[in-house]
Amino acid sequence: MDDQATKSKASGVQQPVFFADSVASVSMDEECSAFIDRDGDFMEVMCCDYGFRSGASRMYQEENDGRIPKNAFQLGWDNFKSELRALRQSIRFDDFSTISEANPPRGPISRAAYSVGQVALDGLDVVDRALEAAQVLEPLRPRAVTLDGVTQSSESGGKLINNCSEIRKKLKQLKLSNKAVWDREHARERDGRGVETPWFIKGVYLSLCLLLDFLFENRPIQRFWFLETVARMPYFSYISMLHLYESFGWWRAGAELRKIHFAEEWNELHHLQIMESLGGDQLWFDRFAAQHAAIVYYWILLGLYFFSPQLAYNFSELIEYHAVDTYGEFVDANEELLKSLPPPLVAAVYYRSQDLYMFDSFQTSQSIQNPRRPSCKSLYDVFKNICEDELEHVKTMKACQDETVGQDIIARREDGPRIGL
Ligand SMILES: [Fe+2]
Ligand SMILES: [Fe+2]
Repeated sequence: MDDQATKSKASGVQQPVFFADSVASVSMDEECSAFIDRDGDFMEVMCCDYGFRSGASRMYQEENDGRIPKNAFQLGWDNFKSELRALRQSIRFDDFSTISEANPPRGPISRAAYSVGQVALDGLDVVDRALEAAQVLEPLRPRAVTLDGVTQSSESGGKLINNCSEIRKKLKQLKLSNKAVWDREHARERDGRGVETPWFIKGVYLSLCLLLDFLFENRPIQRFWFLETVARMPYFSYISMLHLYESFGWWRAGAELRKIHFAEEWNELHHLQIMESLGGDQLWFDRFAAQHAAIVYYWILLGLYFFSPQLAYNFSELIEYHAVDTYGEFVDANEELLKSLPPPLVAAVYYRSQDLYMFDSFQTSQSIQNPRRPSCKSLYDVFKNICEDELEHVKTMKACQDETVGQDIIARREDGPRIGL
């Protein structure tokens, strides 16, 4: 691989290059990609993809390029079948035990809640087996690969696929303390970097944070996956509203704003894909919670933007600052472990490829002469970059409230202001 990397550097290759089955330094049973960055340097990337949506559903996988979706009926039916199977598997193979393992019940209330949950799961298990016996539901086969990445086939003898056991073990050791995140947020507010907000917005924000603490205690990657799933919704909402105003003929100067929001959504999409490749979307329950929350959140923000864009941006600023605090705490608390892990391929492509047009488009606080060009050598760099991305989102959301975002857009144009006065 060194030879290939040297050759590509010598020949001035600037585009990302993917190699399949050719990474000598990483022992693999199956196909594994490597990446040559925009400087021609070889980057070791994470071979394993632990996501529910791995393979063709992951960006930058060859088989996914340029595909268009089937019609909505077919998509909906396919999704229903795959999620029904995943729901049945989660009940029959006791996926929920991974939540109780991460958060063993401590007090009488949580013990009672777990007992009620277990009774409900046992009941659903009986119902599922009865429906299967009556041939209403298809026979449920064991998963080919468990949530821990262990193959179930008899020939493999229950091996971990792709020799990724070390990475899997390390990912499970990553920690995040809810209290430390709150301490960080309060310290920031004492430093005068709090967000001024009306009480009712603050109330909704605090409820969302408490829900995250409750659902994802000691499950940081799953928490980040949930957060990134809903984090894209404001940008979808704002783009939808700006499109609507343009279609009505009410407001056309929003075109530049749409570009920033699209670049931010593109950024959040990559954060989401990174969390998926680390296994954040594996549990059926987490996917159910995140995707329903995302739909509700999208419609709430549409309504809020309709009545007050300032309030909608204010709410987003709160959420983005919460993301900064959460990722910042996570990076500091897991520095050593994160530095021992390679980045996922999707992160390498996003931060280190030649085409940075979309990346540059949401850097509202950086000058074009000194653009932000982050490193991406380890998972530590990846999470640090995400934290810094979130801080850019905070700045944009703030600039949108006091309308200074227009000046930022003009200041960042490569050719400066287009009209001299
Ligand atoms: Fe994000
Ligand atoms: Fe964000």
